[in-house]
Order: sequence, then C-alpha cells, then structure tokens
Amino acid sequence: MQHDAEIAGYLFEHARDIILVIDAGHGAILDCNAAAETAYGYPRAELLQRTIFELRVEPPRSVSEQMRLADTAGLQFETVHRCKDGRTFPVEVSSSGGTFAGCRCLFSIIRDITERKRLEVEREALLASSQNALALREEFLMIASHELRTPVTNLSLQIQQLCRLIDRRAVRAHLRVVSEAVLHEANRLSSLIDTLLDAQRSKGQLTLELDDVDLSELVRDVIMRLRVRADQVGSKVVVDVPPIRGRWDRVRIDQVVTNLMLNALKYGRGRPVRVVADEDGPLVRLEVIDQGIGVKREDFERIFDKFERAMPTHYGGLGLGLFITRQIVEAHHGEVAVVSVPGVGSTFRVTLPRVAPAAVVSARPTAAAEL
Ligand SMILES: Nc1ncnc2c1ncn2[C@@H]1O[C@H](COP(=O)(O)OP(=O)(O)OP(=O)(O)O)[C@@H](O)[C@H]1O
Ligand SMILES: [Mg+2]
Repeated sequence: MQHDAEIAGYLFEHARDIILVIDAGHGAILDCNAAAETAYGYPRAELLQRTIFELRVEPPRSVSEQMRLADTAGLQFETVHRCKDGRTFPVEVSSSGGTFAGCRCLFSIIRDITERKRLEVEREALLASSQNALALREEFLMIASHELRTPVTNLSLQIQQLCRLIDRRAVRAHLRVVSEAVLHEANRLSSLIDTLLDAQRSKGQLTLELDDVDLSELVRDVIMRLRVRADQVGSKVVVDVPPIRGRWDRVRIDQVVTNLMLNALKYGRGRPVRVVADEDGPLVRLEVIDQGIGVKREDFERIFDKFERAMPTHYGGLGLGLFITRQIVEAHHGEVAVVSVPGVGSTFRVTLPRVAPAAVVSARPTAAAEL
C-alpha cells in the first residue's frame, strides 16, 4: 500500500504531462506537478493561489460547463491555456471528477500539443497545395486540349484536301498553295503549344509576347482557317476590319478571335456572322456579331466563368472558350462583354488598349492563367 502511494506520488511529480487537481466547484487549483510549474511559468506556491479560469482563455461560463461535464462523466477535449507571461498554447485535456480529502475535485491531465498542431497545420497546407497543384494540372490539360482541338481539326481538313488534290493530279501551283497553308497551320499549332507550355511553367502568370499586330490581317487569317467550319454550318462571314495596328500578343489575340468566331458559328443558327472593328482614341474595339440563339441577360456575366454554359443544349463544349478569352483580354488590360437578345443574336465586344502593357501578369492568379 505504502509502495503504491509512493509510485503514485512519483508518477504525479515526474509525469511529462501537466497534472492539476482542481476544486470542482470553484476552480481553485489545489495541487499541481512540476510539469505544470514549467509549462505555466508560475512557481508552485503561486499556481496554488490561482483558479483554472485564469489559465483558460475561454469565457468562465463555458469553462464551468466543461467542469460540470468532466465531474459527472469525465471529459476529453482540446483547448488553449495561458502562461504567466500571457503566452498561450494548445492543450489536450483529459479530466474526471473524484472526491479527495472530502472535497469534490477534478483530476486533469493536460498535454501541450503545440508541436502536434504545428504538424497538423503543415500537413493541411501540404495537402491543400498538392490538391491545388492537381486541380491546376487538370485545368491546364482541359484548357490545352480545348485550344489545340481547333488547329488540329483544321490541319487534318487541310491535309485531306491536299490528298484529294494529289489524287486528282492537281497542278503544282495549286498543290503549293495548299501545302503552304498546311505549313502555316502547323507553325501556328507549334507556337500555340509553346505558348501553352510556357504559361504552364510560369505558374499562374500570363506573360505576353508583344508584337506589332495588324488586326485585320489576324482576323482574316482566323476566318480563313475557319472557312470549312463556316461552310459546314452555312454561315456567311462578313469582315469589316480596317487595317488597325497594335502591340499585342499575336497568338493570344488569335485565340480570342478564334474562340469568339467558333461560338458565333456554333450558336449562330447558320445565319451570317459579322466581324467589325474600329478605333477609339487609344482603344481598339472588335465585335463579333451573330444572329443566333442569343444569351439571356442574367447569363451575360456567368458565361465568362470557368465551365459555365448558358443552358444545357445539344451544342457540345466545355464552357471554357469565353473564360480563356476573358483571361487573355484582361492580361492585355482590355475588356470583353456581351450584349444579346435571346432569339435575335449576340454581340461579343472586345476592347483593347492599342499598346498592351509590356510585362503583364494576369489580374487573377487563377489556373486559367496557366494556359
Ligand atoms: N455567340 C453566342 N451565342 C449564344 N450563346 C453563346 C455564344 N457564345 C457563348 N454562348 C454561351 O456561353 C456559354 C459559354 O461559352 P464558351 O465558349 O465559354 O463555352 P462553350 O462554347 O459552351 O464550350 P467551349 O469550351 O467548347 O468553348 C456557351 O455554352 C453558350 O451557352
Ligand atoms: Mg465556345
């Protein structure tokens, strides 16, 4: 018996965890071990003058409620304790009630869990960052495949045309023209791939490669590439773009015009599509106008968001074209917006400063900038 008491006394005094014996009614600290003195920074005599309420950061009412629960059924919980110098530290408490020397007491074993909490935060941050990296990767793959699909389709259509011409023993000059178009498309595809990979490497920053660009030439180029698609849907394309020069990223603005044109052809019900542009001081305005199904006013903003589509339709698509378009336009410090009447048609207007600021970082470091 004597032996047991000695062991208990030894354990109490030398335990690495803090042990407090607390008056279950008033919260006075009746006894404590050496670990408590070290943890709270009070000499034992001083600690025995305190109440548990002074070591806790929560309001007294919730501490009392916990004491009541600990006394009746025992309680394990995490909380925060305060040292003599005001510092706080997270703890895990295991507390249960009992009668000691005729007084109702709480016996609390308290473990400093600062290190555990730090590791938890670190682990959560690591998890969040790897989830973020995975999401970015997924989004990059979606965007890359969205942007590469059109040129690859064009390329294969042109090669099919070339094959037909060879079968028909077309004249050399004609073969040469089509071959050059194929080469041009292949070069464009390769610079688009470079652009996509560069942006992926630059982690969230959309860096523009500014060049002197003739907008009318660029638009004509896009229309030429989409000619087969326009013929397929039966839309006549009218271009009214005067020679306007600006300093923009050619590949990116090409993506913008291509995405808007693809939509105009896709949602345009085979009606004519117009592309117009003009200059307004330092700004250049480009509009793609269709007479298609239109967009409801409440969807004007939403459709520029990622994976947002105005309505579930039989038209295929991911809902990425306008999202990519807006990212690129905003990286040029421009704006893109839609005005539309359902059943009548839509006008997508892009406004660009004639000279885009040189080193541009996407306003929002979203994954979209990972183009
Ligand atoms: N010219 C348009 N006329 C009518 N609705 C349009 C037009 N352009 C876009 N929309 C609406 O906006 C939505 C978003 O367009 P967005 O280009 O981002 O995606 P998508 O065309 O559905 O798919 P994709 O990722 O292949 O481009 C479309 O689903 C469509 O509902
Ligand atoms: Mg689209």
